[in-house]
This record gives sequence, C-alpha cells and structure tokens, in this order.
Amino acid sequence: MDRKNSELGLGNSSLKILHVVGARPNFVKAAAVFRALSQNSVVDQAILHTGQHYDVNMSDVFFEQLDIGTPRFNLGVGSGSPAQQTADIIKRFEPVVSAGHPDWVLVYGDVNSTVAAALVCSKIAIRLAHVEAGLRSFDRRMPEEINRVLTDQLADLLFTPSEDANRNLACEGITSERVHLVGNVMIDTLIRMLPQAAFAIPADIPENFILVTLHRPSNVDDADWLSNTLKTLLALSQRLPIVFPIHPRTRERMRAAGLEASGERIHFMNPISYVSFLALEQRAKLVITDSGGIQEETTFLRVPCLTLRENTERPITVSMGTNEVVGRDLSKVAAAASEFFSGKVRRGQIPPLWDGHAAERIAAVLRREHGKQVLESILQCQTSRT
Ligand code: UD1
Repeated sequence: MDRKNSELGLGNSSLKILHVVGARPNFVKAAAVFRALSQNSVVDQAILHTGQHYDVNMSDVFFEQLDIGTPRFNLGVGSGSPAQQTADIIKRFEPVVSAGHPDWVLVYGDVNSTVAAALVCSKIAIRLAHVEAGLRSFDRRMPEEINRVLTDQLADLLFTPSEDANRNLACEGITSERVHLVGNVMIDTLIRMLPQAAFAIPADIPENFILVTLHRPSNVDDADWLSNTLKTLLALSQRLPIVFPIHPRTRERMRAAGLEASGERIHFMNPISYVSFLALEQRAKLVITDSGGIQEETTFLRVPCLTLRENTERPITVSMGTNEVVGRDLSKVAAAASEFFSGKVRRGQIPPLWDGHAAERIAAVLRREHGKQVLESILQCQTSRT
C-alpha cells in the first residue's frame, strides 16, 4: 500500500474518497453516498468521524443501524464552543487528510465539522464536494448558515437537493458547471430503512401522539423562552399526548434552568436510534420541531410539521410539502395546532428527485469527474514529453 495513504487506509484504487462526518444528520446522508459508491470496484473509500457527536445514542447506534461499518478514523474532538470545536477539527484533520491525500473529500450538510473540513481541503488543495449544497435560511444569526455559505464557496463540486438551492448558488456567483441537482440523500436512506421501522417502535408509546424535538440554541438556550415553550407543549398535551426525545443540549439547558422533564401526558425520553425515530415520525399525527432534516422527512412521510423557527433553509418543504414555519411566537404555535385539531391537515407532495436515487447520481458525477481528470493528466504527460 502507498505509504501516504496508509493512515486513512485508502488503498491504491484509481478513485480515493474520504467522507467526513461529525453529527447525527451527517451519518444518515453519508450512509447513502457510501453505499452507492461501494457498488464500484475502482473506488476506495473511508469514513472519518470528527467526534463532534460522541454519545452512543448520538453516534455509534447510527453506524450500526445504517450498516456502513465503523468510521476508519475518529478525531475525537468532542464538545466545545462553536469556534473551539471548529478550530480543533481543523487542527486534527489537516495532518490526517494530508497523509491520506484522497482524490475527493465529501462533506455533508451544515454542521461545524462540514465547514472545518472544507477549510482544510481548500488550504491544501484537496478537491472538495459538498452534499446538500445551496440551502439558505438567509439568517446569519444561525451558525449553520455561515457553515453553508462558506462551504459552498470552497467546494469544487456542489450537490443540491432542490431547484431553490441551485438558484441560491447562482446568486452567490457559483458557476453552474460545479453544481449538480441530484435530489435528497437523506430521503435515500429513509426509503431504505423504512421497512425496519415497523419493528423498532419504542415501548410505551401512545396510539396517537404529537412528536416534538427541539435543540437549536435559539429555542433552548434562553431559560424563559424554554420554560414558556414547555408550558405551551404541556397545554397541547391535554389534547394529544406528546412524545419528546430530548437532545443532550436541551436536557442540559432544562436542568440548568430548573425545568423538569416531566408531565403526565408528555413522554420524555433520551435520544433514540435512527430507525426508532423513523418509526415515531411515521406514526405521529403532528410533528413540532426546530430540526432541518425532520422538516424534509415529514414532507416525504406526509406527516404535518410545525417548525418552531423564524425561517427555513428548506422552503420546498413549505411550498410543496407538509411544513409550516410558525416562527418564535408561541401563540402562533397554539393557533397552528388548533387548526390541526380542527382537521386542517396538510398532506403536500413529494419534491422532484426525492426518489431514493440521489446518491447514485452523486456517484455517477464523481466517476465522470474522475474520468475527466485522468484524461487531463494523461494529456499533460504527453504534452510535457513532446
Ligand atoms: C449540531 C449541529 C446542528 C444539527 C445537530 C444535530 C452545528 C453548528 N450544529 O448541533 O446543525 O442540527 O448537530 O443533532 O454543528 N452533546 C452531548 N453528546 C453528544 C453531542 C452533543 O452531550 O454526543 C451535547 C454537548 O453538551 C454539546 C451540545 O450537546 O455541547 C451541543 O452539541 P453540538 O455538536 O455542539 O451541537 P448540536 O446542538 O448537537
């Protein structure tokens, strides 16, 4: 084996790919692309985990269920302030990727791990592809928005899930040759795993329920806001029981604010596995969330969703799907829920290319790009000889 590649364990195949992941939604997206690329014998690929998410239920269980093995490398950065976490990933990632020198690094979504890896690749001239490019909330107060804008500026190839993303990239001056509309890789994995969800329903779940997830700093870091949100949920739970898997950040903020994770008709639980969460999403009558990916999954599953944020980077889930952005006004949440109870239910439509084949399209583009590069280097060799 080439000594340079030995650290990452990438062999001497003609196309060497490194997937960089760090947080829950990354694992789901990378699983689809990893599987699509594994169909090709010229590809040698490895997964590098930054360690941004590290709890068993936030990380290990995903790799087990998604059947993509364990990451070949873990940077073990753990938690920290956003800047510290990003800086730690940059410092630890550079020597590893320099030694392995893959042909392409693939980064996913909008988490700190995504932008950190992108910055390193741009500094040492390793080609970078961004999966789920072009999404914009146009709200720079969100750390994820900064991560998206920067990663897209740095990427050599940008894979988008929907037309709006292509328009956003064009407005930011990104040339269309770099951009490929492929569809939604998160939905690829959902389609593959949905049959297993029938056997993964968590115990003691009521027949009919509202599913809630909240973890954004804007929703959980302010104690008063968090307390009022929980009161609103308590009131809603009188109409329909609530199931609420709590993100570690939210649990920590509740503890610090002296807010109890209790309520007769609110079923609080620790973070659950990917497949069990799919089972809940599929069965929920209504979902209330501030997540990005859940807005997309509920659109695909045709389950109504109220998004507790001022904006969304996934507007197609509103224009075509089941999502309603209710803002950070709790009276609007209560009003939207009342409409739902009165029978006004959005079923929406599934956006184009959310068909389970997005990752195959990505694999095809990467193979084509690689073919072009091989040809270019042969031509260069011939020119330098003559
Ligand atoms: C991150 C992403 C967010 C994504 C979310 C999915 C960024 C900026 N944010 O947010 O876009 O929607 O992942 O879950 O990258 N913690 C644990 N155990 C873990 C991981 C986290 O206890 O395994 C706790 C720590 O206290 C940590 C806090 O959760 O400080 C926040 O984790 P972090 O990775 O910084 O961001 P998330 O809120 O998970």
